Amino acid sequence: MQKPYLLHMITPEKNLSAFDVNMAFDAGWTAMPYLDVKLEEVAGIIQDTVFSRTAQGLKRTGIFIGGRDMHLAMDMFHAAVKAMVPPFEISVLTDPSGAFTTAAAMVAAVAKQLKAKNGEELTGQKIIVIGGTGPVGASAAVLAAKLGAEVTVLGRAVDKANHVAELCNTRYGTVVEGIHGDAADHIDDLLLETDVIFATAKAGIQVLSEEQIASAKKLKVAADLNAVPPAGIAGLNLHDNGEPLAASTSGAVGIGPLAIGDIKYQTQQKLLVQMYSTGEPLDLHFEHAFEVAMKKV
Ligand SMILES: NC(=O)c1ccc[n+]([C@@H]2O[C@H](COP(=O)([O-])OP(=O)(O)OC[C@H]3O[C@@H](n4cnc5c(N)ncnc54)[C@H](OP(=O)(O)O)[C@@H]3O)[C@@H](O)[C@H]2O)c1
Repeated sequence: MQKPYLLHMITPEKNLSAFDVNMAFDAGWTAMPYLDVKLEEVAGIIQDTVFSRTAQGLKRTGIFIGGRDMHLAMDMFHAAVKAMVPPFEISVLTDPSGAFTTAAAMVAAVAKQLKAKNGEELTGQKIIVIGGTGPVGASAAVLAAKLGAEVTVLGRAVDKANHVAELCNTRYGTVVEGIHGDAADHIDDLLLETDVIFATAKAGIQVLSEEQIASAKKLKVAADLNAVPPAGIAGLNLHDNGEPLAASTSGAVGIGPLAIGDIKYQTQQKLLVQMYSTGEPLDLHFEHAFEVAMKKV
C-alpha cells in the first residue's frame, strides 16, 4: 500500500492558519498540526518524522513552517533543514502568515508591469512600503532590495520602521542598496521621488488618498494588498492588474489585492505540489516563492 502524503505543519502560534491548512489539503497533502512550537523543539519533530519512514515514504512526507514572524520562521526553517540526517531528508516549505508567497506575488506583479509599461527592471527603482513593518511588507522589502531597488519601509513609529529595516538588512545580507526605515509622517516628501508603492498596512485601512497619488510625479506602479474596504490606495480597484490609476498625474498603473491574491494562490499551490512531485527533498522559502511567482505573472 502506498503511504499517504503527510505534511507536518509547525507553528509557534496557538493556531495554524486555516488558509494554509486548506491549501495543504487541496494540494494533495494530509496535514498534521504542531502548535505553539518553540524553536528548540523543531529538530526533535523533524527527526521523529524522518526516522519512521523508508526512502519511498520520505518522498511523501513534508514539513511546513508557518507563524506570524518571518525571522522566527526562517530560524525554524534552518533548524529543520539542519536536523535532517542524509539520506533521511524531506522537503521543507516556510510561508509565515502567507507573507512569503504574498510578497513574492506582489513583487513579481510589479516587476511585470514595470517591464511592460516602462521597459524597466526593479533595479534602481525607489520603492516605499507603507505599513512595511508587518510580515508581508518586510518580506516584499527584502525581495525588492535583493533585486537592487532602493526600499524605504514606512511605519507609524520611526523606531519600529528602523528596527525592521535593520533586521532585514542584517539577516538577509545580500541586499544591494539596503532597506531604510522612516516614519509614515514623512510620506508626502518621499512620494515626490517614489517610483513604486507597495501598500501593505493592516487590512481595512486607507493609507494613501487620491491627492497623495496625484502628488507622486514619478510614480510608475502602485500595488495594494488591502482587500477590506476602503481600498488601501484610493481609486485602486480590487481586480486591477495594470489598469491606469485614476488619480495619477504620471500615468502610473495599479495592481489590486485580488490580482495579487490570485498569483499568491497559484504560487503557494505550486510550491506545495513541488514538495512531493519532484521526488527530491526541496528547501523552499521566500526566494523560491518569488521564482515561482515570476513564472505565474
Ligand atoms: N491579497 C492577498 O493575497 C493577501 C495575503 C496576505 C495578506 N494580505 C494583506 O496584506 C496586508 C499586510 O499583511 P500583514 O499581515 O503584513 O499586515 P499586518 O501585520 O496586520 O499590518 C502591517 C502593518 O500595518 C501597520 N498598521 C497597523 N495598524 C495601522 C493603522 N491603524 N494605520 C496605519 N498602519 C497600521 C503596522 O505598522 P506600524 O505599527 O509600524 O505602523 C503593521 O506592522 C494586509 O492588508 C493583509 O490583509 C493580502
